Amino acid sequence: MLLEHSRNVDLFRHVWKMMMGSRSLQLLILFVCSLTITTIECSECSEVKKQNPNLYNITRTIVHSAVSKGAVCLDGSPPAYYFDPGFGDGVDNWIVQISGGAWCVNVTDCIGRTKTQLGSSKYMDKLEFQGIHTKNKSANPDFYNWNKVILAYCDGGSFVGDVEYVDPATNLHFRGKRIFYAILEELLKKGLKNAKNALLAGTSAGGYPAVLYCDSFRDSLPTAARVKCLNDCGYFPHFKNPELERNWHDRFSGVAELQIKYTIGDHMTPLVDAGKCSASQNQSLQEMRSEFLNALPKGDNPKLRGVFVDSVHHHNSLLKRWIPEIAINVNGQLHTEAFADWYFDRKYTYLIDETNELPLENNARLIWAVDNATARVIYNATL
Ligand SMILES: *[C@@H]1O[C@H](CO)[C@@H](O)[C@H](O)[C@H]1NC(C)=O
Ligand SMILES: *[C@@H]1O[C@H](CO)[C@@H](O)[C@H](O)[C@H]1NC(C)=O
Ligand SMILES: *[C@@H]1O[C@H](CO)[C@@H](O)[C@H](O)[C@H]1NC(C)=O
Ligand SMILES: *[C@@H]1O[C@H](CO)[C@@H](O)[C@H](O)[C@H]1NC(C)=O
Ligand SMILES: *[C@@H]1O[C@H](CO)[C@@H](O)[C@H](O)[C@H]1NC(C)=O
Repeated sequence: MLLEHSRNVDLFRHVWKMMMGSRSLQLLILFVCSLTITTIECSECSEVKKQNPNLYNITRTIVHSAVSKGAVCLDGSPPAYYFDPGFGDGVDNWIVQISGGAWCVNVTDCIGRTKTQLGSSKYMDKLEFQGIHTKNKSANPDFYNWNKVILAYCDGGSFVGDVEYVDPATNLHFRGKRIFYAILEELLKKGLKNAKNALLAGTSAGGYPAVLYCDSFRDSLPTAARVKCLNDCGYFPHFKNPELERNWHDRFSGVAELQIKYTIGDHMTPLVDAGKCSASQNQSLQEMRSEFLNALPKGDNPKLRGVFVDSVHHHNSLLKRWIPEIAINVNGQLHTEAFADWYFDRKYTYLIDETNELPLENNARLIWAVDNATARVIYNATL
């Protein structure tokens, strides 16, 4: 779902209401991604990398000044980001992407992360930029020359924690919110404060903070700037599956218990991993899909700013599916083009893939994790 800053608060309130409402409404926002994010790796990634000439490595930039603000990774190390400068007429345009990587849900789990890049900048290496960060103009005509930033994710809790207390027994720091603002401050100094166009995007566990911080990101940029936000695979609505719900419920209450209790409450509820779908699970998926489609605004809604709903499962479209060969294609329309048209207010697409009742395997098999029953929505109305 794509949010334009000015509507963000209302829309978010609306989403909240929906999620807190009746069962049918809980199922409504069906921006579905798998939550088996950390474990499933694409078996053909190496093949894909060989075929993709658009990858390039960027080294991390450590934000030492963040430490004095208490903005640190789980292990207390300074946070970091990856930066590739814009060029040509893109020098005043910025994509700031918040990376994902699931969550740590208990102390043992979080301590485990402190020995990896997901919990400590000590372990952060180069990062491969690709997808929306591609510098090849024909592959990525609208964003190829922008300043490109990826915020490293090392707080274990979707950049929302702001817990002052550090238990000396674990030395775990839950400070993701401070990390976001410390890096934002650094980027503003680097030139973001002069942005003409800017996009705050987040993938997976990074999608939630892209929504949460959309308004303050907007407020820190010039009023004349075009500023929009993109949540890529970062909605986790409550799926009523008794077995799996228990699993995910435990997971999310763990995250909330550790670091986001007072920030986002318990509405950030997860989805089923529809891995081995039984007939009744298939039926649930179909019901979710039709509830979602019924609830979408119709094409004649004057506040509508676009809809693009596909039925292919995928995760991390920003990095993995942004070039034309592998973009999501519904009736010849690519999601990348629909997005750019929406971003630049060129045209608002209204497109729903009506041909598939259940999610399709995507051809390129570029799946890190599988998000069955996927909906991709471009919508900017206060309902
Ligand atoms: C980026 O760096 C990693 C780790 O050093 C390496 O495996 C990978 O091949 C590099 N990718 C490119 C496109 O150079
Ligand atoms: C912590 O979470 C991990 C991952 O979900 C789980 O495997 C482990 O059993 C949990 N440990 C404790 C002590 O709860
Ligand atoms: C640029 O992107 C296009 C479209 O994806 C691709 O066909 C072409 O090979 C790429 N060129 C280079 C030099 O990477
Ligand atoms: C998702 O749905 C497809 C069929 O549409 C199925 O093959 C797959 O196993 C399902 N789940 C996962 C996790 O792959
Ligand atoms: C559920 O749907 C998938 C995809 O169409 C199908 O492959 C699978 O056989 C279905 N499961 C059952 C039990 O019918």
